[in-house]
Amino acid sequence: MPAPAPSHPETLTWTGGLDGHVRMIEQTLLPTRHELLEVRGVPEMVDAIRRLAVRGAPAIGVAAGYGVVLGAAGAARAGADVAQATGEAIDALWVSRPTAVNLFWALDRMRAACAAAVAEGLGGQSLAERLLEEALAIHASDRETCRLIGEHGAGLLEDGTCILTHCNAGALATGGMGTALAPVYTAHAQGKRVSVYADETRPLLQGARITCWELQQAGVPVTLITDGMAARVMSEGRVQAVIVGSDRITRGGDVCNKIGTFQVALAARHHGVPFHVAAPLSTVDTELIEGRDIPIEERAPEEITCGLGRQTAPEGVQVYNPAFDVTPRDLVTSIITEVGVVHAPSLERMEEALQRGGRM
Ligand code: MRU
Repeated sequence: MPAPAPSHPETLTWTGGLDGHVRMIEQTLLPTRHELLEVRGVPEMVDAIRRLAVRGAPAIGVAAGYGVVLGAAGAARAGADVAQATGEAIDALWVSRPTAVNLFWALDRMRAACAAAVAEGLGGQSLAERLLEEALAIHASDRETCRLIGEHGAGLLEDGTCILTHCNAGALATGGMGTALAPVYTAHAQGKRVSVYADETRPLLQGARITCWELQQAGVPVTLITDGMAARVMSEGRVQAVIVGSDRITRGGDVCNKIGTFQVALAARHHGVPFHVAAPLSTVDTELIEGRDIPIEERAPEEITCGLGRQTAPEGVQVYNPAFDVTPRDLVTSIITEVGVVHAPSLERMEEALQRGGRM
């Protein structure tokens, strides 16, 4: 008997009409506190993205779209210039985080929607309303994209597969059911017995705090390990596949994801475990071919020296804290997208998928 379709937490929603606001799960408090954060202005949205109240590449894109609407709607209420306020909101959100390309993809989409509406003669409240429609459309398409990734990815998972994942690329990282976890949820709903090893994901523990929490909620068996245990777990034959998400994929197929992903890919190659990446085409940076050109966010040293609620390193120690790394394409078995699975990604195969998805 297939398991009941798992229910997924609603990461963020637009509540109300043009006078509404964004309600999001405050992810920094998980798993011990499940609280909702109400975001009513552009600076609050920039802050929520920056401090990871909302995180994960697709969710950041959806949040940014709504952030633009907050700026536009505020200007419409105040009788100010909505197009100008939209541009200012885009500029403020643009610098909230540097690596996840979905942020820039969503902001470019909002900018284009604004320009098209202005060209049609819209302004004031009707322009702000058009922008709300666009942000809701970004959210709806992300939901559908996740579902399709789940469908395509579940085909790679046999009954009994145990998957290792890194960071959180589940429902809480998207506007839908997730990217890396979507194939897991879909396979589970199809009645396949699938289970997950979750890397805890130092330093902010998205794997321990968020992936384990949402898999437990969905009734998918999950086992938590520290990051340093992934190779050991593979050497013991405990996992048959790795699936991770991505913050930015180049047109050449190099994959940027949470720090530690590259090591997982190396360990997977050594042990002959397939290494899959699940991501929407909005995560592909069509401007870049080589992964070395991806800007990597560096975060505060305190995330490492004082990240677990107590100081765990001597005062004044030098710290290096890159939040992401790049896995070269030759370590990637496949990229699972909404238009299908790109096996052994290369420039040609990525461009072919981008064409099918209407992104080139
Ligand atoms: O710093 P975060 O928590 O935003 O990093 C998230 C990740 O690295 C995810 O794996 C990635 O964004 C894919 S989310 C579907």
